Amino acid sequence: MSGARKIIIDTDPGQDDAVAILLALASPELDVVGITAVAGNVPLSFTEKNARKICELAGQPETPVFAGADRPLERKLVTAEHVHGKTGLDGPELPEPAMQLQDRHAVDFIVETLMAAEPGEITLCPLGPLTNIALALRKEPAIAPRIREIVLMGGGFFEGGNITPTAEFNIYVDPEAADIVFRSGIPVTMMPLDVTHKALSRATRVEAFRDIGNRAGTAVSEMLSFSERFDEEKYGTDGGPLHDPCVIAWLIRPELFSGRDCNVAIELKSELTLGMTVIDWWQVTSRPHNAHVVRDIDADGFFALLTERLAKLP
Ligand code: BDR
Ligand code: CA
Repeated sequence: MSGARKIIIDTDPGQDDAVAILLALASPELDVVGITAVAGNVPLSFTEKNARKICELAGQPETPVFAGADRPLERKLVTAEHVHGKTGLDGPELPEPAMQLQDRHAVDFIVETLMAAEPGEITLCPLGPLTNIALALRKEPAIAPRIREIVLMGGGFFEGGNITPTAEFNIYVDPEAADIVFRSGIPVTMMPLDVTHKALSRATRVEAFRDIGNRAGTAVSEMLSFSERFDEEKYGTDGGPLHDPCVIAWLIRPELFSGRDCNVAIELKSELTLGMTVIDWWQVTSRPHNAHVVRDIDADGFFALLTERLAKLP
């Protein structure tokens, strides 16, 4: 669609990543120019394949998918099979993808796409560890002023962490990469646990996906029924947080969310709090604002949007 906002989704699917990709592919306001896979929830060999499975589930096998970093910049990869299952996409039976992985490395795709586009044309949507984005910024620093905005899922402050008491998974896995992104001067919008923990995939909401009666709605209900089991036990809630789709929903319907501009710094040294996103929400320092931090969501509006859009898919 002409006038659609061009985005690159950088992702480690992951059931919630998968829902985010489906939401983007179903939305005419967005033009997904490529999907770049990174190691995170599960190793890269699974995340790149899962991304292709999701494009096929959406009936859009022409979406180019690229494989990127198979490990964080400086650390050993930490994965989350305990949440997402061995494949990262446990739950539905999805066929092996027929579409091919692109030959180019994800980092080259990000750099070349940004350098070829008009400045301010492309938005990056990282849904996993920030390794690919940091590598692209290192490889070609001239991309930074060309990026319209980075809208990412990561971090947490009032809610604490989900992989350690103070760190959220995406930031914890590659804190050095996150530090590069938050210091880059690029406009960043951040969806931390403080907002995603309010987007709960309650039983009635998952039933609404299933009741659409199409392939995508059924697969999403099966994915969430799998991944939310862990979170329901951990948090004692009806449903688990649907993290990554908040990024895509914000691009389509920003009025569903609210937050404020803050300084965000990444803890890199402390063993105890490694990967913590130190958010100066109350503006108690003079550190400059480097991110728009989202904290609230109209969860009913968000799930209504998801249901409406999933219904447009096969
Ligand atoms: C984030 O970590 C992953 O498990 C999810 O896909 C999401 O991106 C939440 O902390
Ligand atoms: Ca993710």
